[in-house]
Amino acid sequence: MLVTGVAGFIGSHVARAALARGDSVIGVDNLNAYYDPALKHARLDRLQAERHFEFVEASVSDMEAMERLVTTHADIETVVHLAAQAGVAYSIENPIAYADSNVTGQVVMFEAARRLPRLRHVVYASSSSVYGLNEDVPFRETDRTDRPASLYAATKRAGELIAHSYAHVHGIASSGLRFFTVYGPWGRPDMAAWLFTSAILEGRPIPVFNNGLMERDFTYIDDIVAGVLGAIDRTPKPGENRIFNLGNNSPVPLLDFIATIERATGRKAEIRFEPMRRADVPATFADIALSAETLGFQPKTSIDEGIDRFVGWYRGYNAR
Ligand SMILES: NC(=O)c1ccc[n+]([C@@H]2O[C@H](COP(=O)([O-])OP(=O)(O)OC[C@H]3O[C@@H](n4cnc5c(N)ncnc54)[C@H](O)[C@@H]3O)[C@@H](O)[C@H]2O)c1
Repeated sequence: MLVTGVAGFIGSHVARAALARGDSVIGVDNLNAYYDPALKHARLDRLQAERHFEFVEASVSDMEAMERLVTTHADIETVVHLAAQAGVAYSIENPIAYADSNVTGQVVMFEAARRLPRLRHVVYASSSSVYGLNEDVPFRETDRTDRPASLYAATKRAGELIAHSYAHVHGIASSGLRFFTVYGPWGRPDMAAWLFTSAILEGRPIPVFNNGLMERDFTYIDDIVAGVLGAIDRTPKPGENRIFNLGNNSPVPLLDFIATIERATGRKAEIRFEPMRRADVPATFADIALSAETLGFQPKTSIDEGIDRFVGWYRGYNAR
């Protein structure tokens, strides 16, 4: 299979799990510097130790490079497209990066996929952020998604619509996965688990937005990987673009999340309350009835267990 964003948090875990069960993986990533590329290289090092892994450094928005890739690897049957410019806050600072990686990149990957003679299925990453200003929780796949709170969210929704058009015009079967705040070992330095853990361990204050009146449906990486593999293994009918929530179905208030990290680190956090940021949403909460029934998705990891594992990994990684 082809996995894009393979040096990223979710992509590297999905690739490892696919290799472990005997799949061959061709991985693509442009190793950009949105966060420390050393972390991307370290994830990649673990993959490159595997025999059935091959890495191609390229951008998913580069049509020529992706066309070359699918010409030289014409036996690919599954495309797992996880590369994206992620992060809500940064989409205010650098909007063009989102248009390039998430919109052009999505079109290029579907164009590349449709040139694969043995293509069965494109699985791609979407986001809980598509629910935007919706207030009714839990979020269901059938809820409206036309009021994004950030450009990031708008580009992820655009990705789903692009997938729909390729299903309709070219008959490409695809599954879009709306991930809900994923955390765990090898995670992202711009996300809450990492930011809060590093602040607590280094004795810095934690900025908490909206006076802490925020909730996130934090979902552990191993549960997400099981969901992605579940989606990969269940090919929709040709011409069908399916969309699923992959979330923990158990939102955690931000202050409880911080208390969990305090317990795991054995240190007290210093909290600095700040106003709500405009592009943020106050709560996320996944209804997972559809993904449970169709993909066999069933998150198993409690927040205490998941944070323990993250903090253990974080300490080891930073002690190197
Ligand atoms: N982590 C989460 O909580 C979360 C939540 C919702 C959606 N998502 C989505 O899941 C996917 C994976 O996210 P992640 O958390 O692993 O992020 P990540 O930033 O760790 O991984 C993305 C990878 O894609 C690569 N990349 C970015 N632009 C590229 C381009 N133009 N060409 C090639 N490679 C490129 C990056 O270098 C990075 O290694 C993304 O599509 C993201 O939008 C993640």
